[in-house]
Amino acid sequence: MEYVHYSVMRDEILQYLVPPIDRPAHMVDCTCGEGGHTYLFLSKYPNLQITGLDRDSGIQQKAIHRMEEFGNRFIPVNTWFDDYFKGYEGPGLDLVLFDLGISSYHFEESERGFSFRKGEELDMRLDKTAPISAEDVVNGYQEERLADVIYKYGEERYSRRIARAIVEKRKLGRITQSDELASIIYKSVPSGYRYGYLHPATRTFQALRIEVNRELDRIEPAIKGALDAMVPGGRMAVISFHSLEDRQVKWLFKGLGEGDSPTIKILTKKPLVPSENENNENPPSRSAKLRIVEKL
Ligand SMILES: C[S@@+](CC[C@H](N)C(=O)[O-])C[C@H]1O[C@@H](n2cnc3c(N)ncnc32)[C@H](O)[C@@H]1O
Repeated sequence: MEYVHYSVMRDEILQYLVPPIDRPAHMVDCTCGEGGHTYLFLSKYPNLQITGLDRDSGIQQKAIHRMEEFGNRFIPVNTWFDDYFKGYEGPGLDLVLFDLGISSYHFEESERGFSFRKGEELDMRLDKTAPISAEDVVNGYQEERLADVIYKYGEERYSRRIARAIVEKRKLGRITQSDELASIIYKSVPSGYRYGYLHPATRTFQALRIEVNRELDRIEPAIKGALDAMVPGGRMAVISFHSLEDRQVKWLFKGLGEGDSPTIKILTKKPLVPSENENNENPPSRSAKLRIVEKL
């Protein structure tokens, strides 16, 4: 079965990100995925060209296929978004979109161990050539470092117990499968925690993914680089899914948007959140926060 990713906050994104229509316009979708948002923009604005970035070549193939009808108005680039803006020499950008995190594809189709509900190799790399996989983190990090990762990137209150259990278990042999890790985590937490709203492995798996792909380190340089590449009046939207990302984005925008010589205007004093309707249609949308700025 093929899963199609639900593109979050589409109406809000389309309401705020409007390209000029009297000249060729340029947008970078920094997290193109399989191209849900990109498809909407290309369909709506015939004068718009979109460069779609994704470090994951598997999901990018889906976008390339889906965007065939738009010809050279869609330009896929297989890169990390922070790398893309280093030394950027392309056209001035009218619109920039970040939809942080990973896609349904990763959980359902990638077979890289993103889902604790499946028995897959613990990999979690978006870039298959990257040196460190989730298996390396789980089997190679010292207990304290592992606990710190789980605490910091998963905001997991039982991080120490979970790290301890992992270290005990790996003495018996490498932990290589996602369901094996999920079961170790499940058994390590207090029983009350096992039956909560979230599966007890949710936060640890999120933390491992963020660590492996260095997700949080890439946001600030990419946003700054993208702002430099934008034309005055250009707009940027950032959708984040957990507080660590949103906090980073919020403070960065605050710093650039306040003081004597602000370089951006913040269009969303408080982040926009999905409508009740969207939340009912797609429960994972619930954690989305959208911030939008305009370059001055
Ligand atoms: C939430 S999905 C985007 C979904 C897309 N907006 C849609 O509507 O179909 C995020 C995508 O960004 C990619 N990604 C995450 N962090 C990245 C980074 N730092 N550089 C490049 N791609 C990244 C992931 O591989 C994933 O495909």
